[in-house]
Amino acid sequence: MTTDHKELMKILRQHVGNDALLKHCLATEIAMRAYAGKFGQDAGYWGAVGLLHDIDFEKFPDEHPHHARELLAAHGFDDAFITDVESHGREWPGERNLLQKTLLALDELTGFIIACALVRPDKSLDNVEVKSVLKKMKDKAFARAVNRETITEGAAAMGVDFAEHVAFVTKALAAANGHSDLPLVG
Ligand SMILES: [Fe+2]
Repeated sequence: MTTDHKELMKILRQHVGNDALLKHCLATEIAMRAYAGKFGQDAGYWGAVGLLHDIDFEKFPDEHPHHARELLAAHGFDDAFITDVESHGREWPGERNLLQKTLLALDELTGFIIACALVRPDKSLDNVEVKSVLKKMKDKAFARAVNRETITEGAAAMGVDFAEHVAFVTKALAAANGHSDLPLVG
C-alpha cells in the first residue's frame, strides 16, 4: 500500500466529492501526522489512516464505517490498515491501540477547532486560543452537532492533558493550513 499523499488523495477523491468532507479528512491527516511525530510513530502510515478514515461516509452515511473494508481492500490496503480505519466506529468492539485512540480523539476535535476559527473576525486558525476552544466546548449552542464527550473521552483515553491536546492540534492545523490540497478554513 502507498502512503504517498497525492496517491492517497486520488483514491479518496474516487469516493468523496464533498469539499467539507475532504477538508475533514485532510485535517485528520494533518493532526494524525503531527501526533505520529510526537509519539515517534510512522507519520506516513498514521497520516494515511487519518486521510482515508471516512472513505465510505459519503456513499454509505448510515452504514459508515462498515463499508470501508470493501472500498479499501479494492485499492490494495491490508487488513491491519483497514482495521485501523474501522476502529474509529463508536461501537467498534476491540481495545484500541495508540493510533486507534488518537484517531478517535481527533475525529471530532479537528472540526470543532476549525469551527472556532470560522467564527473569528479574521477567520484565522493562527489566532485560535485554547481558552476560547475550551469555553466553546461548554457552549451547547455552538457547533451543536459535535459530540463533546467523544472529544474529551478520546483525549482521556490517549492519556493527554486536554488543554495541551487542543493546543497541539490547533498548532498542527494552523501550520498546515494553506499547504494542504484545500484550505481548511475558507
Ligand atoms: Fe471523521
